[in-house]
Amino acid sequence: MRKKIVAGNWKMNMTTAEATALVNALKEDLANFRDVEVVLCPPFTALATVSELVHDTHLDLGAQNMHWAKNGAYTGEISAGMLRELYCHYVILGHSERRQYFGETDAIVNRKTQAALASSLHPIVCVGETLQEREAGKVEEVITTQVQGSLAGLSAKELLDSVIAYEPVWAIGTGKTATSDQAQEVHALIRQILTKAYDATVAQGVRIQYGGSVKPSNAKELFSMPDIDGGLIGGAALDAKSFIDIVRAAV
Ligand code: PGA
Repeated sequence: MRKKIVAGNWKMNMTTAEATALVNALKEDLANFRDVEVVLCPPFTALATVSELVHDTHLDLGAQNMHWAKNGAYTGEISAGMLRELYCHYVILGHSERRQYFGETDAIVNRKTQAALASSLHPIVCVGETLQEREAGKVEEVITTQVQGSLAGLSAKELLDSVIAYEPVWAIGTGKTATSDQAQEVHALIRQILTKAYDATVAQGVRIQYGGSVKPSNAKELFSMPDIDGGLIGGAALDAKSFIDIVRAAV
């Protein structure tokens, strides 16, 4: 049985003061909650604060990006070791905003994924097609390329330590959610790709989150699909009540 995992991707939002208020509100409800794995992914500047706030709870900490190198002359970048020092256990990699605005390719995402795993961080590797690609009937091709490229060279154990997030680009921050059937179809496709690359047992063991305009009103239906193992939540993760409702919808 795959344990559901819901992660809040706060993106470039939340000062440390705002983060403190949000985490304190989440803790009131979720501090001892074990039925679903809950990961908070604040901006780098709030990681230390949130880390301290969640250290005695069941809430987990993740970052939104990292560099693949251990250290060195990479101005403005953060390494896996630096994230581990703050007790981060997860890191979102290859989010479509990183791919779109910062030129991240599958090869870059793959280097980062390998580096994260080498430092015992669980990567949350994002894939997803644009609206144009969907309308051109290219979903299978795009997802296959991204999954194979981003996860290239991973051992079965490394794959099982990773989480995949399917986030159709057209559904992110747009209010347009994929229907549960549309999402399920792509999640099943991802499992099929992994079955071919590894085997059915491994493919069945990997957790695949859905992301893109998940809200309290649509979470339950999405999370009840057979191949959807939770969500990567953007906008709705910035509001304590919405995020708590979404987490509880995953039970
Ligand atoms: P959204 O973002 O929930 O605001 O659509 C999801 C994401 O980008 O991870």
